[in-house]
Amino acid sequence: MKNDLPTNFHSPLSPETISRYLPQGRTSKIICLDSVDSTNNYLRKLAADGAESGTVVIAESQTAGRGRQGKSFSSSKGKGIYLSALLYPQETTPEQLASLGGMVASAVWGAVKNACGVSCGIKWVNDLTLGTKKLCGILPETSTAGARRYVIIGIGVNVNHTEEDFPPELSDVATSLRIHTGRPHDRNRLAAEIIGSLDKLAADLPYNCRSYLDTFKKNCVTLGKQVRLISPAGESDAYAVGISDDFSLIVRDNDGNEKSIRSGEVSVRGMYGYV
Ligand code: BTN
Repeated sequence: MKNDLPTNFHSPLSPETISRYLPQGRTSKIICLDSVDSTNNYLRKLAADGAESGTVVIAESQTAGRGRQGKSFSSSKGKGIYLSALLYPQETTPEQLASLGGMVASAVWGAVKNACGVSCGIKWVNDLTLGTKKLCGILPETSTAGARRYVIIGIGVNVNHTEEDFPPELSDVATSLRIHTGRPHDRNRLAAEIIGSLDKLAADLPYNCRSYLDTFKKNCVTLGKQVRLISPAGESDAYAVGISDDFSLIVRDNDGNEKSIRSGEVSVRGMYGYV
């Protein structure tokens, strides 16, 4: 990653500017759009047409940005990074694929640290946090095109939002790098760092994944907290005691029984708010 380029905090996202920060040999396409329903939806169509591994779609805004569990993702124009990347993890088992969101969280954690100098938290299952609020959400979606399995990794980072850029219902939940640090950040530089970290993750799969687990555990803000487990079957309280090797959350209930929760089954909230 080149660090010596001039910084323009207000530049629109462009493939040329992003590529200047990336290794010269990188050939996969980076597509920047002004507006799209969802970058994950757009990339899914490209994958069906045979797009190559490493293809990235980024938009200045999304009209129907999607989050996990059918939620929407607020994507105000020119403020954040709304990015989807295509991977073809052929040798990866379904179990490893289930951990991919956690690995991506660790990769993006490193990208934010390198590009912005900010050390954020990781909230299980794969959100990034600053203080008690959400900075970034991750939506991995697995599918097949013909006989080829692929994953679209959707990443939404709140970069230069002010408080007014979030809808009122998110005011207690969402934050941005700008709100947290009091200064704007270069979205092209951060987008490049995220793309570089996903390229590395694609090369590390499926064998070199230990460092992603270590980063996750070290920065996981869910650990050591009382949490509320919310599933279609109901809600219960528990204490978060650990992260297992497959990125499951290990919780202890009030009777002292421990169980392990896989991503996607249950959503976890702090007892007194989002974290
Ligand atoms: C979540 O917080 O539940 C996940 C949010 C993922 C948002 C990103 S923004 C880019 C990509 N396109 C989408 O529609 N969603 C993801």
